[in-house]
Amino acid sequence: MGVQNRVALVTGSGSGLGETTVMMLAQNGAKVVVNDVDQAKVDKVVKKIKSAGGEALGVAADISKKDQVQDLVQKIVKQFGTVDILVNNAGIARDKGLLKITEEDWDIVLDVNLKGPFLLSQTVVPYMKERKFGRIVNISSRAYLGWPTQANYASSKGGLVSFSRTLALELAKHQITVNCIAPGLIQTPLYDALPDNIKENLMKSQPTKTIGKPEDIGYGVLFFADDEADYVTGQTIFICGGKSVLSSLSV
Ligand SMILES: NC(=O)c1ccc[n+]([C@@H]2O[C@H](COP(=O)([O-])OP(=O)(O)OC[C@H]3O[C@@H](n4cnc5c(N)ncnc54)[C@H](O)[C@@H]3O)[C@@H](O)[C@H]2O)c1
Repeated sequence: MGVQNRVALVTGSGSGLGETTVMMLAQNGAKVVVNDVDQAKVDKVVKKIKSAGGEALGVAADISKKDQVQDLVQKIVKQFGTVDILVNNAGIARDKGLLKITEEDWDIVLDVNLKGPFLLSQTVVPYMKERKFGRIVNISSRAYLGWPTQANYASSKGGLVSFSRTLALELAKHQITVNCIAPGLIQTPLYDALPDNIKENLMKSQPTKTIGKPEDIGYGVLFFADDEADYVTGQTIFICGGKSVLSSLSV
């Protein structure tokens, strides 16, 4: 039941949505792996989990680099024997209009947001196949539907949806599910730092007139990662206060 005793890796879990998600997985009895490119963030989150009585391993690694991904997974296997749940959460943005996006802006966003999940999936799936159990949850974005100044980011997040649907079909016979979450507006430090008038306009455009909490994404991950969710695969769930419905009405 649930995620009890499962080994769960959340990439980019040193802050934001990943941090909340990895804490929620630990609170629900999973043995968690905190990964981030930033060692100080990893240490901070591992300390929080352990002081709340959870079991956690921290590994700093850049998930866009194959050798670092392989090393990360080897460390997990050495400590916990396998990876049951992979949450590809690490993501970055370099928002600019098309004519201002440099080749480097394009490459780094695609490398972290799309190549990272590919490298991680390729490295953990052999362990999942062996145990005939796996849950992969990819954190996309509502922005994959399209948003000005986000050609690189939206492409990476749209690619992640296609990647998830394809893997879902390839891995279904191995009892490995692959699903996506597309968050909308969520209260993070980035949102808090916006000028009040922009926040007001954003809020007005929300059907719920509210903003999501990081926990809303964590609950989505817990749903897809659950032992009982074995018949749910290849799906993308929008967690965005209904805004994706408005977007589809306006096109
Ligand atoms: N916050 C939102 O409103 C929102 C909305 C839609 C989608 N998302 C997606 O949710 C995910 C988490 O976003 P967030 O707002 O919590 O961001 P965040 O910046 O707070 O956290 C992302 C973490 O990933 C880490 N990271 C960056 N590059 C990495 C790499 N190469 N290897 C390992 N770790 C790396 C960062 O150090 C950071 O701690 C991202 O994929 C983002 O695109 C967020």
